[in-house]
Amino acid sequence: MSDDKPVILTCAQPTGVLTMGNYLGAVKNWASMLDDHDCYFGVVDLHAITVQYTPAELRRNTLSCVAQYIACGLDPERASIFIQSHVTGHTELAWLLSCTTPIGELQRMTQFKEKAAKLGFKTSGENDVKFTHEGARAGASVNAGLLMYPVLMAADILLYNADKVPVGNDQRQHLELCRDIAQRFNNSHSPTFKIPEPYIPKSGARIMSLQEPSRKMSKSDENSTATLFILDQPDVLKKKIMSAVTDSGSEIRAAEDKPGVSNLLQIHSSLSGVPLDDLEAEFTGKGYGDLKRAVADVVISAMEPVGQRYKELIEDKSYLESVLKNGAATAQKRAYKMLAKVYRKAGFVERPR
Ligand code: TYM
Repeated sequence: MSDDKPVILTCAQPTGVLTMGNYLGAVKNWASMLDDHDCYFGVVDLHAITVQYTPAELRRNTLSCVAQYIACGLDPERASIFIQSHVTGHTELAWLLSCTTPIGELQRMTQFKEKAAKLGFKTSGENDVKFTHEGARAGASVNAGLLMYPVLMAADILLYNADKVPVGNDQRQHLELCRDIAQRFNNSHSPTFKIPEPYIPKSGARIMSLQEPSRKMSKSDENSTATLFILDQPDVLKKKIMSAVTDSGSEIRAAEDKPGVSNLLQIHSSLSGVPLDDLEAEFTGKGYGDLKRAVADVVISAMEPVGQRYKELIEDKSYLESVLKNGAATAQKRAYKMLAKVYRKAGFVERPR
């Protein structure tokens, strides 16, 4: 970790086992950036409590996410892996940034609207979003944390003055907002934050549900066969892939009118490195069953070592704790510097030493 390399900061929520979407759209890509960047990989436990959760599960999922990161190739010797709540500054900076962020900008965020909709709240309007409580689940409410979510995310990024933020396509809008927030702060005070660039992989940036390929693959899908989890057993992976929804016709090609087949080809291509064109050529004259079997083989052989390494890591709590101790120390050093700078620029009196 050195000062002259570009800084990347990125995170995932510890809300369960990572999916093939998280892996191909994000973590696999992060692992390829270790040598050329100063890397900060966070596990954002504070974001995870914006939806209903249980404390014991959060604790288990947070440590599990750290082990999954390492098992997927994020080498703690070449990156700072840390838990968001271990570093002072994320929530403090989020507060400062929230005081310059119009509520309307937050209400417009697609993920906010989707999460509110999941609770049964209907939203309407573009700039002044209205909520219809009628039909909402009993006892459900849209909490302020859910609305503030993207501000905390902006704080995660800006606290490290990151140059690039490698994410999947679904985070593009949050990144845009983060850039606006940074720009607004710089304009109101003086240049303080770098304007971070999204870094979205060419392949795998939007992996879709196996059952409804018009929707993204998600951890929280109610239909468990729709999502491939990186720690699924080989037979489970195979079963899910073999029952994936395909499209009408029998041709195997990546095209808009073939969302199911395109998704399977995309998963294969991202893991095997074989370009889509070559895969299409390879499967000419073959059936959907052949494609599914090939995808299952590629997925299983890529995930087998990940699963094995994970098993070792999750048993070794003291190693995980040492990774987190080092990660938090490096992250905190950078975060304190930035936080002090932000407070100074925003007119706060310096803390007595
Ligand atoms: P999260 O936990 O939902 O997802 C982690 C990463 O996985 C990517 N991803 C996908 N990529 C392709 N196809 C999919 N189906 C798919 N599903 C998820 C996401 O784009 C993400 O890169 N808000 C963030 C967490 C966050 C963050 C940050 C990210 C908090 N602070 C600061 C970057 C920088 C989130 O919920 O990710």
